[in-house]
Amino acid sequence: MPQYVCENCGFVASLDKRLYICPVCGDPLTIMFDDKEMSFIPSGKGVWRYSSMLPITGKGAISLNEGGTQLHQSVRLYREIGVGSLMFKNEGLNPTASFKDRGMTVAVTKAFQEGAHGVICASTGNTAASLAAYAARAGIAGYVVVPEGAVATGKLMQARAYGAEIIHIKGNFDDALKAVSSLAMESNELYLVNSINPYRIEGQKTMAFEIYEDVGIPDWISIPVGNAGNITALWKGFKELYRIGVAKKLPRLIGVQAEGAAPIYRAFINGASSIEPVNNPSTVATAIRIGKPASWRRALKAIRESHGIMVAVSDEEIMSAYYSLSSKEGVFVEPASAASFAGLRKLSTQGLFKGNEMVVAILTGHGLKDPESAAKVPKKELTVEPTKEAIAGAILSPARVFR
Ligand code: F0G
Repeated sequence: MPQYVCENCGFVASLDKRLYICPVCGDPLTIMFDDKEMSFIPSGKGVWRYSSMLPITGKGAISLNEGGTQLHQSVRLYREIGVGSLMFKNEGLNPTASFKDRGMTVAVTKAFQEGAHGVICASTGNTAASLAAYAARAGIAGYVVVPEGAVATGKLMQARAYGAEIIHIKGNFDDALKAVSSLAMESNELYLVNSINPYRIEGQKTMAFEIYEDVGIPDWISIPVGNAGNITALWKGFKELYRIGVAKKLPRLIGVQAEGAAPIYRAFINGASSIEPVNNPSTVATAIRIGKPASWRRALKAIRESHGIMVAVSDEEIMSAYYSLSSKEGVFVEPASAASFAGLRKLSTQGLFKGNEMVVAILTGHGLKDPESAAKVPKKELTVEPTKEAIAGAILSPARVFR
C-alpha cells in the first residue's frame, strides 16, 4: 500500500490518517508507492487517465475535466534561445485556467470522500480560484485566505463567482499559509488543499505523464517556482515513470524564481543545505510572491537530482518574456508563467544550450487572470471618428502613434 513518507527525516505513516506535514520535523509529507504498486496504464482523458498511478481511483471524482493540456510548438522564440525545439505546456487551458486544477480534483475528491464540511487554502490567487470551483462542484464550503491587495483581479473574481468565502489578511502569502495550516490541523471539518497536502502533488504529477506521452523525455523542462509544490510534483511524476522502467531517462529541471522572492535560487547558488527565508518577498509575478516556500527541500532535491539549475529573473525580464510569449507566439500567460521563459532566455545568454535540445517550458496560468499586468504592455490604441477614412488613416498613417 502507498504510505506517507517524510523525505527529510524518514517518518512513515499509513494513508488512513489525515496528515499534511511530518509530525516529527514539519516537512510536507510525500505519498510513496512501491515500484510494484505502480503500473502505467493510461485510460480515458485528463488527470484521471492516470488513475493507475494515483492513490485514489477516479470513481466518483469531483472533476471538471482538468488536465490533457496542449503543448504548443514554439514558432519563433526557440530560435532566440538557440535550441532544437521549444514547447510550451499551456496549463492555462485547465478549467479554472491554471495547473492547480490537476491537484485540486484529487484533493477535493479526497476531502469529499472523507466527508469534510469545507475546504480551505492560503493563496496568491490561483489555488483560491481552483479551490472555489471544485468546492462548488462538490457542494461543500470553500474558504480562501489571501494577502490583501496582492492578488490579481481575475483570480479574485473567479473565487467570488464560484461562491467561495474570501478572507483577506493584512500580511503576505507566507503568513496566510502558516495561519491556515495550523487552523486546518486542529479541525476535522476543514480540509486543507494547499500543496502541502500530498494529494495535491499526486494530481499535479500527471503533468509529467502527459509530457511523456506527448513527446517522450525532453532534455530540459523549465518551471516557475513559488511554494515549490509544482516542481516537486513534476519531478515525482518523471521519477516514477523512470523507476518502473517506462521512461529510460530523466529530464533536467530548470526552476525559475523571481529575484525578489528567490530563497531556493539563493540556496542553490550557495550550495547551501537549507534556505534563508525572504521576509518581504516582492515581484510583479504575484503568483510566486513567496518568501518561505513550504516544499523548498524537495525542490532543491529535484533540481540537484536532475542535474538541473535554479535561475532568478528580474521583473523586467519577466515582463519582457510575458510580452514576447503573447506577441510572438500567440500564447497569453500570466507573469509568473512567463518567468519560465524568462529563465530560459537568461540561461541561453549564459551559454547553457548547445543548439539541438528539446525543451519544454511549463506555462502555469492564463494571461486573463491578471489584467493589471496586461495593462502594462505597450499600447497600440487610438480613438478616431466612426468613418472608413479615419480608420484607414489610423492604420496607414506613417505618423500613427503605435508604429
Ligand atoms: N505559477 C502560477 C501561475 C502559480 O499560481 C503558482 C503558485 C506557481 C507558478 C508556483 O507554483 O507554488 O507550486 O511552486 N500559486 C500558488 C497559489 C501559491 O496560491 O495560487 P508552486
